[in-house]
Amino acid sequence: MVFEHVGLKVRHRSPRASIDPDRDLGWMRRLLPLIKQHRRPLLIGAVSGVIALVLQVAVPAVVRSAIDSTISGDRSDLTTWIVVLLCLGLGRFLFGLTYRYSLFQLAWNVETDLRALLYDRLTTLSFSYYDRTQSGQVISRANSDIRSIQLLLAYGPLIMMSGLAFVLAFGFMLTIHVPLTLVALSTLPLVYVFGQKLRTTVFPLTWVSQARMAELATIVDENVNGTRVVKSFAAEERQVNLLARAADHLKWANVEAIKTRARYNPFIEALPRVGMAMVLLYGGLLAVDGKVSIGTLFAFNAYVIMMQAPFRMFGFIVLQAQRASASATRIYEVLDEEPDIADSPGASDLDRPAGDIEFRDVHFTYPNAAPSFDEGVTPRRLPVLTGLNLHIAGGETVAIVGRTGSGKSTIARLLARFYEADSGTITIDGQSIHSVTLTSLRHYVGLVFDEPFLFSSSVRDNIAYGLPNADLDDVVRAATAAQAHEFITELGNGYDTVVGERGYTLSGGQRQRIAIARTLLENPPILVLDDATSAIDVTVESAIHDALHGLLADRTTILIAHRLSTIALADRVLLLEGGQVVATGTHADLLAHEPRYVQILAEADPLEPDLIDEGAP
Ligand SMILES: Nc1ncnc2c1ncn2[C@@H]1O[C@H](COP(=O)(O)OP(=O)(O)O)[C@@H](O)[C@H]1O
Ligand SMILES: [Mg+2]
Repeated sequence: MVFEHVGLKVRHRSPRASIDPDRDLGWMRRLLPLIKQHRRPLLIGAVSGVIALVLQVAVPAVVRSAIDSTISGDRSDLTTWIVVLLCLGLGRFLFGLTYRYSLFQLAWNVETDLRALLYDRLTTLSFSYYDRTQSGQVISRANSDIRSIQLLLAYGPLIMMSGLAFVLAFGFMLTIHVPLTLVALSTLPLVYVFGQKLRTTVFPLTWVSQARMAELATIVDENVNGTRVVKSFAAEERQVNLLARAADHLKWANVEAIKTRARYNPFIEALPRVGMAMVLLYGGLLAVDGKVSIGTLFAFNAYVIMMQAPFRMFGFIVLQAQRASASATRIYEVLDEEPDIADSPGASDLDRPAGDIEFRDVHFTYPNAAPSFDEGVTPRRLPVLTGLNLHIAGGETVAIVGRTGSGKSTIARLLARFYEADSGTITIDGQSIHSVTLTSLRHYVGLVFDEPFLFSSSVRDNIAYGLPNADLDDVVRAATAAQAHEFITELGNGYDTVVGERGYTLSGGQRQRIAIARTLLENPPILVLDDATSAIDVTVESAIHDALHGLLADRTTILIAHRLSTIALADRVLLLEGGQVVATGTHADLLAHEPRYVQILAEADPLEPDLIDEGAP
């Protein structure tokens, strides 16, 4: 049997290359394999870039010759000059266009690759990664981080080219007239200085403004999503005040940014004209003396304009490079994260098991658990499981009972290998769960948690999440067993009703029943219901369990529950305390002979104390 990753339509193709795995290289070097993948835009871009560059520098030089030869009386060539210039201009336009297009295409391709790589990695990382990191933060940061790398890739080469144009033009001007060249370029350092001043004051303000924008968005978001809380505490006015204050802060940052721009921009705009005026003044005097030609004056003026570009942009690109480097560090951090739970080498698919489960001497501590100083000077993370042993025979229905925090859910997570036990072995039908593929393991171990997540899609899609091609008949059968069919048919559109975040809001018990149906549809031989019926009322719950018995009698079922009525359904109860199974037996046995059991039940379910006195049903 082949296990497909089900339920996810492939929306992207993973790039063929990834970043260079060598972490000692610079971030640009590590990006090279991704860039090299896109040979075509890279090659076309480089070639057309160089041609566009040469043409750009050549145009003023050709204009110079045209003017000079025409002024000197040779008018016959005028049409030729015009045709040549038109061709040069057209060529420059076309090659420049191609260059920019390939460059941006390259940058977008790399952006898409990075996004796909990041997404791939985020979906393969295990629970423990998400315990350590706030995934929402990773994803929201990723967007701006990827964008800043994309920006540098798109504009970096453009600015490099204009730098090259500067060098070429500079060399050419020097061969014509050295002092005039120096005069022509004398304003450029000022362009840089003012540009830098503008950036160092405006950019921080832009950041402030962005942060304040985010603040504002958060407040709006909280008001919309938390509107019930806001209203029930009659806190509307306080929220409006918060919003007004945040809006004021944002306004201040934006006004300051505009003021600064208004102060420096006129200088930056005027400087090239000052440069041109100086060329005309000094060059004009030289021309009157016959030391330079009129054409040279024209050419120099054109170059003065052209040569501003790298000076205006240089500071920007340095800043952008710094940002991109910081962004790359953050992205690579995620990409370098090894999924700590993956198929072992040579893992094979688990065959459909009979459902015999064994934990032998299992120790487990959450890697991110807060250290405790209780037992001595050196901090110690408190272990959750301390040499746990348990055996559940295939087909058995077992309840695990223990206090909140005793590790019941942890057992379920270890069984599906969402976390890795620190030591000990866990086997299914005698096979270590390490030696089988994760996909097959999770296919056969059906877990239902107490707060199930529903996707914003139809009820049908939610139930068929694990088997997207399931017939409606099968979906209905699973929903019926989970006692969900009745309320689903009463929804506006029946099985097509959209539920979840952006749809119809279901009650906790209804969500749980849909989640049970979702797992039942896959018909797993091992079923773990972790508080999965906590919000479902007792009669409906027992109907679910009746249906479960009917559906597949030889299924192994682990019930994690506080409710006596649920526990009573089990063939056998395991009592969990101090990270170990401390007692096992039927509910009646334990009630009669195990005072710890009675105490824990009394703590867990104070609302049903009389059931304890009555004994097992
Ligand atoms: N993701 C986690 N990271 C760190 N500690 C955890 C995590 N999940 C649970 N714990 C801790 O492990 C212990 C056992 O948790 P759990 O198995 O959920 O208990 P139960 O399901 O019996 O209430 C608790 O002390 C809990 O605080
Ligand atoms: Mg739990």
